Amino acid sequence: MKVAVLGAAGGIGQALSLLLKNGLPAGSELALYDVAPVVPGVAVDLSHIPTAVKVAGFGADDLDAALVDADIVLIPAGMPRKPGMDRADLFNVNAGIIKTLAEGIVKNCPKALVGVITNPVNGTVPIVAEVFKKAGTYDASRVFGVTTLDVIRSEAFVAELKGVDVSQVKVPVIGGHSGTTILPLLSQVEGVTFTDEEVAALTPRIQNAGTEVVNAKAGGGSATLSMGAAAARFCFSLVKGLQGESNVVDYAYVAVENGDAPYFAHPVRLGKNGVEEILSYGELSAFEQKAKEDMLETLNKDIQEGVDFMAK
Ligand code: NAD
Ligand code: LMR
Repeated sequence: MKVAVLGAAGGIGQALSLLLKNGLPAGSELALYDVAPVVPGVAVDLSHIPTAVKVAGFGADDLDAALVDADIVLIPAGMPRKPGMDRADLFNVNAGIIKTLAEGIVKNCPKALVGVITNPVNGTVPIVAEVFKKAGTYDASRVFGVTTLDVIRSEAFVAELKGVDVSQVKVPVIGGHSGTTILPLLSQVEGVTFTDEEVAALTPRIQNAGTEVVNAKAGGGSATLSMGAAAARFCFSLVKGLQGESNVVDYAYVAVENGDAPYFAHPVRLGKNGVEEILSYGELSAFEQKAKEDMLETLNKDIQEGVDFMAK
């Protein structure tokens, strides 16, 4: 198993790489790529951890070598938010970065499973898909927007609110990854019930959790440690699927035919080719149904921005 992390020297990249060094199956290779000159040092640092995962660092000119024959590519490269910014404000800077990295994937590992973390995820995932379509290598089942942070936050907040064992809490989160496009399905959480007031307070807390971190970091960036944990968890699901484990189900922002929008976070069954099946998200409460309908204009606009960027 070869996993490449693009943007590996950043806040997310370093946390994620540490967790992968400790958690990937023995014999795996971890390729760390970044344009920041510190990346070889990050690789050397991690290589002193005694696990059977081989780490190598690749600098600005070595994208091809980092990507060649990768099975999984995770992309946390690009600019994070500062207080007062929306994720959409990152589009102009991050779109070009994502396009270049996707072109590298086409050239070196067109069959890799690709997890896009870079914001705005609603628009960067369509950019990756459009680059692959242009090259004739697109396979919708291999491209994912990583929305696991919304899921783990929901688990943490529900457990905190209800005083239940967090390891037992499962919260479906559908839609996209920004503001109101993030839709936690609290009506489907097993073993706990919420009052209307709790739903009305907890839903926006989950939707604004990224901003909560951005404001608390006061100009020092956005979520990195929780995102590292989230991306590692999602990567381990991809690995289990690739290894042929049965019934691996996780949530991700994927291309959906005849769905609510061209891309929408769903539960997906993962296997040797990435998405084996897009699963239904089930029945929504009246509150969730309205929230879903209300988000679609924003989500479709975000998606179109990514598509249009590649049509220029
Ligand atoms: P950071 O600034 O700490 O790290 C970004 C890294 O990307 C830097 O090391 C930088 O050198 C590198 N980089 C920039 N251009 C590059 C290129 N062309 N190729 C390779 N590397 C490049 O930022 P961060 O906090 O790690 O956040 C990274 C991105 O992840 C941001 O866009 C942020 O908004 C996003 N994010 C997404 C989620 C999510 O849930 N999907 C959560 C948190 C953050
Ligand atoms: C998050 O949800 O924490 C990330 O998308 C980063 C951000 O800008 O909020």
